[in-house]
Amino acid sequence: MEIIEPLSELLKEIDKEIKIGHWSDSQWKSFFDSYNSKESNYRLFLIDNLKHVYLFDSDYKQSHHEEKKKIAAFALILESRGELLAHLLKIAVASSMQRQGLAEKLLDFIIGHYKDVEKFDKIYLEVHSENHRALSLYKKFNFKTLHKCKHFYAQGTDAFKMLLNLF
Ligand SMILES: CC(C)(COP(=O)(O)OP(=O)(O)OC[C@H]1O[C@@H](n2cnc3c(N)ncnc32)[C@H](O)[C@@H]1OP(=O)(O)O)[C@@H](O)C(=O)NCCC(=O)NCCS
Repeated sequence: MEIIEPLSELLKEIDKEIKIGHWSDSQWKSFFDSYNSKESNYRLFLIDNLKHVYLFDSDYKQSHHEEKKKIAAFALILESRGELLAHLLKIAVASSMQRQGLAEKLLDFIIGHYKDVEKFDKIYLEVHSENHRALSLYKKFNFKTLHKCKHFYAQGTDAFKMLLNLF
């Protein structure tokens, strides 16, 4: 199932509130084009304002919006099936819903999904070296730092590459 409006706009709205690392319109367009293509390896995980977690496409339908459920948080994953590796591209919680355990709930669901359902080996991510909230979140889930990459992002900022072994 494709990501279309209004879901696409809701994701962009939440992302716009992010101070460190939000995507431009063209980055979002390229992501939606890739996600909506037939061979897509991208996955979208969502939490609604009732704090239910979903893997989009299997147990979440866009018609949920007709029931006035809103998206409170989301995470984007790029899967490398050959390597049994899930790359966490982005996790974001709407600013009004932060510090209520949503990121923790979402990450818990994602880890369970890749460990128990997909039987993947690892979850990998990059994070801005100054993003202390995200670093604290990932450390809480036992992600280990592989190394620091100098000037990783376009603005010249550094990144930590982190890995969680699932087995
Ligand atoms: C980072 C982020 C996803 C956390 O979401 P959240 O739902 O508020 O986090 P939770 O309430 O589930 O908290 C889980 C853990 O995250 C860390 N954390 C969250 N907010 C924090 C803050 N303001 N200061 C320090 N640590 C924080 C803590 O380790 C926390 O555990 P604790 O409650 O035991 O201290 C959220 O702040 C966000 O969307 N930030 C902008 C996007 C972003 O930076 N994403 C990560 C890189 S893509």
